[in-house]
Amino acid sequence: MLNNEKIREDFPILNKLTYLDSASTSLTPIPIVEAINDYFLNYNANIGRGAYKIAIKAGNIVDDTRENLANLINVKSNEIIFTKNTTEAINIISNGLNFSNNNKNNNKKNKNKENTNKKNNNIIVSDIEHHSNIIPWLSLANVEVKILQSENYQLNPEILSEKIDKHTKLVAITHISNSFGSKQDIKSIEKIAHDNGSLLLIDGAQSIGHSKIDIKKLKPDFMAFPGHKGLMGPVGTGFLYMKEEHIEKVAPTNLGGGTIVDYENGKFKLEDSPYRFEGGTLNIAGIIGLNNAINYINKIKIDNIEKYSDKLTNYMHNNLKEIENIEIYANPSNIHNIVAFNLNNLNPYDISKILDETNNICVRSGFHCAIPALKSYNISEGTIRASLHCYNNKNDIDKLIENLDEISRFLS
Ligand SMILES: Cc1ncc(COP(=O)(O)O)c(C=O)c1O
Repeated sequence: MLNNEKIREDFPILNKLTYLDSASTSLTPIPIVEAINDYFLNYNANIGRGAYKIAIKAGNIVDDTRENLANLINVKSNEIIFTKNTTEAINIISNGLNFSNNNKNNNKKNKNKENTNKKNNNIIVSDIEHHSNIIPWLSLANVEVKILQSENYQLNPEILSEKIDKHTKLVAITHISNSFGSKQDIKSIEKIAHDNGSLLLIDGAQSIGHSKIDIKKLKPDFMAFPGHKGLMGPVGTGFLYMKEEHIEKVAPTNLGGGTIVDYENGKFKLEDSPYRFEGGTLNIAGIIGLNNAINYINKIKIDNIEKYSDKLTNYMHNNLKEIENIEIYANPSNIHNIVAFNLNNLNPYDISKILDETNNICVRSGFHCAIPALKSYNISEGTIRASLHCYNNKNDIDKLIENLDEISRFLS
């Protein structure tokens, strides 16, 4: 069981507002803020460079964070690469894997070669991806991007079976959709991709911290994560899981300090993973915050968070659907933490502005960086999206419903 009242004490910002936008970024609890403060006030140093005590302390905590993340998702620590967000994690793969050696913008001269390569290389993404898992692939010159159409706001693995072919190098799929809250059947998708000899990348932006992630069960080749959403870590943190056997296949694209072990006559020898992918000074304060966030989440237990949030999501969905003139975009049997809707055909931005101005209710409005997803369902003006974490409770939902009800009656 999860003690919501106790959890809420760690989020004083909730005394001022109703926060229903955790899919965008989660709130940060006091212990994490204090851990970051402690770094700046007491051992503010760079890592991997200085021999002095505070540098070693900071370095040890960063190593510890990597270890904790590895344990969290059941992998080895050299398979964890720190990034600033999910987007950067996906771009490490899109820019570093072999088929991506030419960016479209640099490759206007040799169209014929590009077209031949395109026939031999394709990537499958779905229509419900966040832009971060579509645009990096679309920007590759030598790869055709095939779009898997969703059905009823979720992916049907059978359609993937029909679409995949011998030229499919990679399948890149979201775990939980940020537009509709649906969780995908990764087990079936993984089997289809790997039986076909394709690599699998999963976008875990909306699942980590909300659902237990066991890489040994999901079996992706790559999985991209934020630290700042479900894990409740600070903004500016994220990480990439890269299966050890692929490390040599991915060219590091952010080379510099910390990425090589030797240099001679203009030639250099790369560091091992993860350091070769982590050029320059890391977001040390953020990573220290993330370490504490993992401990915080582990204490509550992800299974408890998932059960609690699923119940609360259903409560929100059931109450929303009672509002007059509401249109909800979800498959009710498959919604997790997120419910998207529109009211009376009114502009979603206007509604979210009213909710905020009148009652300090924070919801997201617009296209949620997923224009293809909304276009697939003929949603032309965007949606209002309310999303949850374990610090939310029924009062938050009741407040939202009450206000939407009032807006709906007033404007109709
Ligand atoms: C499914 C999904 N993928 C990727 C992203 C991008 O995440 P980040 O902001 O951590 O780069 C988001 C952000 O909302 C998302 O929901």
